[in-house]
Amino acid sequence: MLKNTTKKYGSVARAFHWSVALLVLAMLPLGFLMNSPSAYITHKSIGLIILMVMIGRTFWRLTNPSPSHHDLPSIFRLAAYVTHLGLYITILTMAFSGWMMSTASGHPPRFLGKIELAMPHIPLNKTLAKLAHETHEIVVWGLISLISLHILAAIYHHFIRRDKVLSSMLS
Ligand code: HEM
Ligand code: HEM
Repeated sequence: MLKNTTKKYGSVARAFHWSVALLVLAMLPLGFLMNSPSAYITHKSIGLIILMVMIGRTFWRLTNPSPSHHDLPSIFRLAAYVTHLGLYITILTMAFSGWMMSTASGHPPRFLGKIELAMPHIPLNKTLAKLAHETHEIVVWGLISLISLHILAAIYHHFIRRDKVLSSMLS
């Protein structure tokens, strides 16, 4: 089924989850190890794809019920809610700050190496570029911490607590 139920994520949410997970996990080493022009083009293009997918995903998330895992203690559900919200915020911040720094420093992304896509309403401005760059460098550590916590939680639920949390995100 396409839509979520109160027990399982639907196929749309699962496609959003696993595609963004894969792309973001690829972007981390790519970002830290970037040294050639083609690595920059790839990083910026994938970053824009993540941004577009995340905007659609946020809309889907806000207009759909989510599995509520009512069998879990409420402190677990609160921890999951806070972590998931943090993941949405840090991913969106990474994509926006990356796009803003590139545009404000005069190196707007050339999507797939061709179509130049500057961020709308962003001027050439060194201070703004520096601010966006620092945001990108700091927020990535929040993202990495949340992803680590998130994956450890998935392992804990599946292998130690042996509940249905991981299977709610698998078909
Ligand atoms: C979720 C999306 C993104 C993730 C996870 C990500 C991750 C990273 C990481 C880990 C770094 C290395 C940071 C460091 O050296 O401290 C980096 C650098 C960079 N990112 Fe991203 N990025 C994302 C989106 C974007 C987007 C959309 C753009 C531009 C359109 C972009 C442009 C850049 C640039 C230009 C650098 C190099 C900055 C420098 O020269 O130090 N990123 N990114
Ligand atoms: C092997 C890696 C991963 C596993 C096993 C995994 C597993 C899961 C599971 C089981 C859920 C459902 C949790 C619940 O219903 O309470 C979930 C949700 C979520 N995951 Fe992951 N995940 C992984 C990687 C990632 C990564 C890398 C990201 C971020 C880039 C991410 C972001 C999210 C978000 C934002 C949610 C909330 C679902 C929503 O409402 O959209 N996950 N994940």
